Amino acid sequence: MASQAEPRPPSAHDFAGVPGPELSAAQEIAWIEVIRKMEEVYSDLIQYEVELEEKNSALEEAQRFINSVLSAVSDILVVCDQQGRIQQVNLAFLTLTDLAEADLLGRPLAEVLAADIETLELCHWVEAGRGHDREVRFRSGGGGVSEMVALNCATRFDHHGLPAGIVLTGRPVGELRRAYEALKQAQQQLVQQEKMASLGRLIAGVAHELNNPISFIYGNTHALTKYRDRLSVYLEAIHRGVPEAERESLRRSLRIDALMDDLPALVGGTMEGAQRVADIVKSLKRLSFSETGAPEPFDLAEVVDKAVQWAARGRRAGPEAVLDMAGPLAVRGQPGQLHQVMVNLVENACDAVAGRSGARVVVSGRVSDGRVVVTVEDNGSGIAPEHLMTVFDPFFTTKPVGKGTGLGLWISYGIVRDHGGELEAGRSEALGGAKFTVTLPGV
Ligand SMILES: Nc1ncnc2c1ncn2[C@@H]1O[C@H](COP(=O)(O)OP(=O)(O)OP(=O)(O)O)[C@@H](O)[C@H]1O
Ligand SMILES: [Mg+2]
Repeated sequence: MASQAEPRPPSAHDFAGVPGPELSAAQEIAWIEVIRKMEEVYSDLIQYEVELEEKNSALEEAQRFINSVLSAVSDILVVCDQQGRIQQVNLAFLTLTDLAEADLLGRPLAEVLAADIETLELCHWVEAGRGHDREVRFRSGGGGVSEMVALNCATRFDHHGLPAGIVLTGRPVGELRRAYEALKQAQQQLVQQEKMASLGRLIAGVAHELNNPISFIYGNTHALTKYRDRLSVYLEAIHRGVPEAERESLRRSLRIDALMDDLPALVGGTMEGAQRVADIVKSLKRLSFSETGAPEPFDLAEVVDKAVQWAARGRRAGPEAVLDMAGPLAVRGQPGQLHQVMVNLVENACDAVAGRSGARVVVSGRVSDGRVVVTVEDNGSGIAPEHLMTVFDPFFTTKPVGKGTGLGLWISYGIVRDHGGELEAGRSEALGGAKFTVTLPGV
């Protein structure tokens, strides 16, 4: 516009040659006033024109920006008016359908959908303005149909906040599926790596834990072998019927009395070492998870009930155990493994309150937000804050030999995690001791 021949404002000269009667002074002043006004109007016009040009170029820039964004988006995008007529599509949609933009604009959306039944459903869906994913195919260029697309629908509102149409966005399902498969594979690899890493930690732990008792069993056996040799010499002399003085001298030189005093501790220590090895092996057997079948649905409340009875068996003065189950707790998985988890939590709680007067263990279960939550609380001395995570480490135990190996919580943690859940340790507000919370996906 600006490049065209520049118009110029009229001036008094323009009227100088106008033939007519001589102007009076008053008329001349009026003319000058008119011309001044015209000049003003003209300069306003020029100003408006400049502003208009600026606005126009900003608008064009905004349009270019929106177009570039729409073309860059890899999801398909279709905008329709309230009557379901296509108002705008993006490049991804044109590529998917192999149709020309000019053929699409103004056409009813229903005409570009592949199947009539889907069309009908989609129209209802669109009318309802619901945003759930829906899988559809579009008609494509050469009379064929497009890939299946997962579509999402949203209502578009005008600047008064009134519905002005709908916006459909979507992505070919094949692409989504490929991305999902890749993600699943990556996740499986991570899980596998994590399993190998924790197996490695366990083996290192087992080696360390077994090394200790085995080395003192070795040491003791070595000492016992020497004692046996000295005793053999002494007994052989007695059997030979050596005189008393010689026997007493042998008794002193072979330090038979000290040996006899040492024997109970040596044998006891060896027994203790063997017991520790046996405990560790027994605990490791728990790891073999005999159940590997397909996960099955079951009632966790029943499993908890049995586990409480199981854990309480064989305890002479067991704590008062309170079971508070809010109805059945439907979960899916391996009931035997979760039984093991519950037994361990209840046994730990019973151990924590053993010997206390008014000892209490409360096990409660409920469904919350679709998740099954079971808590085991006690009024024992609780867990120090710095140990809240360490208790899940393999071989962390504060129990004496023969009482615990420190594998219970580690194994339980793994089982709960394999069931898609979480096992957490904390403080029981209600009872003052420890609180363990198992959360599992409900079914
Ligand atoms: N309810 C609890 N109150 C206080 N401390 C606890 C409680 N439960 C577990 N702990 C602490 O966590 C440690 C580890 O528990 P975990 O069940 O892993 O092993 P453990 O009971 O010692 O031995 P195992 O279960 O192998 O026989 C326990 O030794 C104890 O110190
Ligand atoms: Mg335990």
